[in-house]
Amino acid sequence: MHDGMPITVKVTEIDEETPTVRTIRFDHSFTIRPGQFCMVWVPGVDEVPMGFSSANSITVQRVGEATEALTKLKVGDSFGIRGPFGNGFTPRGRVLAIGGGVGVVPLYPLAKEGSVKTFILGARTERELVFAHQLEDITDLRIATDDGSEGYHGFVTGVLDQDIDLVSYDTICVCGPEMMMKGILDRLDGAGIASHGQFSLHRYMKCGIGVCGSCSIDPEGLRVCRDGPVFTGDRLLNSEFGTYARDASGQKKRP
Ligand code: FES
Repeated sequence: MHDGMPITVKVTEIDEETPTVRTIRFDHSFTIRPGQFCMVWVPGVDEVPMGFSSANSITVQRVGEATEALTKLKVGDSFGIRGPFGNGFTPRGRVLAIGGGVGVVPLYPLAKEGSVKTFILGARTERELVFAHQLEDITDLRIATDDGSEGYHGFVTGVLDQDIDLVSYDTICVCGPEMMMKGILDRLDGAGIASHGQFSLHRYMKCGIGVCGSCSIDPEGLRVCRDGPVFTGDRLLNSEFGTYARDASGQKKRP
């Protein structure tokens, strides 16, 4: 693990996954566990946390200044990476993975290593589904789109309610918009298996190594970068999860 200076990597290949999401491959291979993240430094712009989509790639959605800069990189350009950081997923037994939007990114390496039996993949539209073709070959893939352009018409929680026997899975790994994840935690809790859920959280991060406190979550002060980003569902019950998060100035905002 590299807590200090970023490693400078050079872009070797770019795959356009959707109109707003691209995978950037680089010339350095990191030793990662699925679900770990890195801090990506874009010279002159910013440093942002990002999940690995493989040992030598990140998959980026254009949402802010740093990701906008990343989506403009070309083969041969350089940027910095610190990491890998965090705990990652610890799947056991029969595994269900649920990814919404670019939340699929940290779950994809888990599926690639053969750990996932069933995968529920959600997006707003068919055009925004990320890694669907790859996941189709290696998991029992179910798709949900908000507009019904592919698969189930609605949210991933609708697929859960309609098609999935939650208690038949030993581990449920989840990443996506927080309200989607909260809906899944509520269902696990209702079935008495909140501890079977492993949720990958997103919070504003500055240091990425447990020092600055910017990513702490109430009430225990768990640091998402150091204690997470993956937490079992029982640790998130009665926390700020699904209620609020904090912005760069520490003010509460909707997650
Ligand atoms: S980002 Fe600094 S403690 Fe987590």
